[in-house]
Amino acid sequence: MPPPFLIAIDGPAGAGKSTVAKALARCLSFLYLDTGALYRALALKAQREGIPSADAAALDSLCERTKIDLLQGDAGMRVLLDGEDVTSKIRGEPISILASAISAHGPVRKALLSVQRRVAEQGSLVAEGRDMGTVVFPEADVKFYLDAAPEERALRRYRELEHSHENVNLDSVHQDLQKRDRQDRLRSVAPLRIAEGSHVIDCSLLTAEEVVEEMLCEVGRRQRNRRKCRED
Ligand code: DC
Repeated sequence: MPPPFLIAIDGPAGAGKSTVAKALARCLSFLYLDTGALYRALALKAQREGIPSADAAALDSLCERTKIDLLQGDAGMRVLLDGEDVTSKIRGEPISILASAISAHGPVRKALLSVQRRVAEQGSLVAEGRDMGTVVFPEADVKFYLDAAPEERALRRYRELEHSHENVNLDSVHQDLQKRDRQDRLRSVAPLRIAEGSHVIDCSLLTAEEVVEEMLCEVGRRQRNRRKCRED
């Protein structure tokens, strides 16, 4: 058995990370980890309890009494919040904004670190988020940074929300995205940035299939290199 192979994908909201990460994991028969879902699940609980995103003490206590589990199944990754399956309840825009806001707190990030690393112990993995290549999996075998023009990202996010029957308009989706971009890039703990050694893909003009193809080429190249290094 070859040792597990780790693929980290980072990038801003709406770049299409989830679509390509899922497809890549399927092509390679790897596990898939959507780390945004963890922050979203915690945000849902904060919302239910009326905890403001600026209340650091309340967020600390929230982390201490919250259990988030991830289930890998045929239908993809499912998220359990204190035992409740919240996978389909965490996708809307209010939760996106709240997840981005609470993710700026160091204790929140620390609390979710072990859940993420535990998944990597189960086998080869495609993990997507904002700090995969910089903080959570700096040792990843391949790091990708997926980006696209802000207008294109807003459009993709709008279509995704429309598809799940959310009542949205393109302007507000664009504004939400800009707000999240600012929050995710400017926070002091684990901000979104291009990890050293990342393969950067601007997918503004590429289809998801084209992005996956480019990623598969790069992964194949690194796998061959790794095999060669082990044989030498
Ligand atoms: O990937 P996403 O849009 O589902 O993530 C929602 C928010 O969670 C995102 O705006 C910032 C935060 N997040 C993070 O800080 N670090 C990650 N690794 C993943 C998500």
